[in-house]
Amino acid sequence: MSAKPVLFSSVKLGAWSLKNRVVMAPMTRNRADRAGVPQQLMATYYAQRASAGLIISEASQVMPGGQGYPCTPGIYSAEQVTGWRAITSAVHRAGGTIVLQLWHVGRISHPSYQPNGLAPVAPSAIKPSSGEVFTYEGPKPFETPRALEQGEIAEIITAYQHAARSAREAGFDGVEVHAANGYLIDQFLRDGTNKRTDQYGGSADNRCRFLFEVTDAVLQEWESGRVGVRISPNGTFNDMSDSDPKAIFKVAIEGLRARKLAYLHFIERMAQDPVIHATLAEVRSWFNGAVIVNGGYTQERAEEVLSEGLADLVAFGVPFIANPDLVERMSQHAALNSADPSTFYGGDHRGYTDYPTL
Ligand code: PHB
Repeated sequence: MSAKPVLFSSVKLGAWSLKNRVVMAPMTRNRADRAGVPQQLMATYYAQRASAGLIISEASQVMPGGQGYPCTPGIYSAEQVTGWRAITSAVHRAGGTIVLQLWHVGRISHPSYQPNGLAPVAPSAIKPSSGEVFTYEGPKPFETPRALEQGEIAEIITAYQHAARSAREAGFDGVEVHAANGYLIDQFLRDGTNKRTDQYGGSADNRCRFLFEVTDAVLQEWESGRVGVRISPNGTFNDMSDSDPKAIFKVAIEGLRARKLAYLHFIERMAQDPVIHATLAEVRSWFNGAVIVNGGYTQERAEEVLSEGLADLVAFGVPFIANPDLVERMSQHAALNSADPSTFYGGDHRGYTDYPTL
């Protein structure tokens, strides 16, 4: 580790001046109500973690059919905007900066989440070969999704724009486009899930089209310095694959670079991912803007990548669940609380707002 820690130094990121380089990663916690309305308990949770340089909210569906898990928040209805406003106010009162993550799960959904009761939507009619979908009636087998018609793609892009505007009305400091982890945008990017023969499939440019159109729609509502994008080129979660991951993500990243975003949020690797196709150094060279890196980082490894100039900020997930004062603890080299996975997804305040501070 370098003599002088970089993790706790301030940084200018896009339009924001952040007090440190410790980012709270977006994490699904399933504590909204069934209408996707954020609850007061969530304001407590996020405000407790406001010493992070930047909080990225849990993924929030941009439209009803974009949901794929119980009690995840939405960002399309007036009630949801009101619920989120209590959260952004609480975080701002506590001195924090918070962006909302915009989400559509695509095929990782179930007819019970679809307003029309039909199959979930995807670039192509290919269901995940393993895993289950979490419904209000418990886990169920995936059903084969319906390939989106072009007019429906345009409607989803409009929904992203509406959601981005709703996030502004809710008082967020910006938004992050969730293009990672096998959800809808990622399903378009990779050829394991995208077999389309129209302008949204085939070539790398075509498979990036949906990502770029969504991003451009969001940029109608927000200045570029308040928009980030999250990608996972090495991810296999949700049965994702591509015949040439490095090639598709190079095109995606270079296209994002041209849009002068606040940051690129790169999930380097999750525990189950076998291979690194795109390295942090490559991603950084293709993007040429600020990079937030994420994926099982310890404080020591975070310091290393920051001092080597490979990343500008580091996002921590599970450590933030169990340590609301993670920044304080790391800066004192204090012991960290360990997290209880049984309370990660849903439930009440237990394992949510009751982890002790120092
Ligand atoms: C999840 O709810 O399991 C989940 C949500 C968003 C992600 C990854 C996992 O990006």
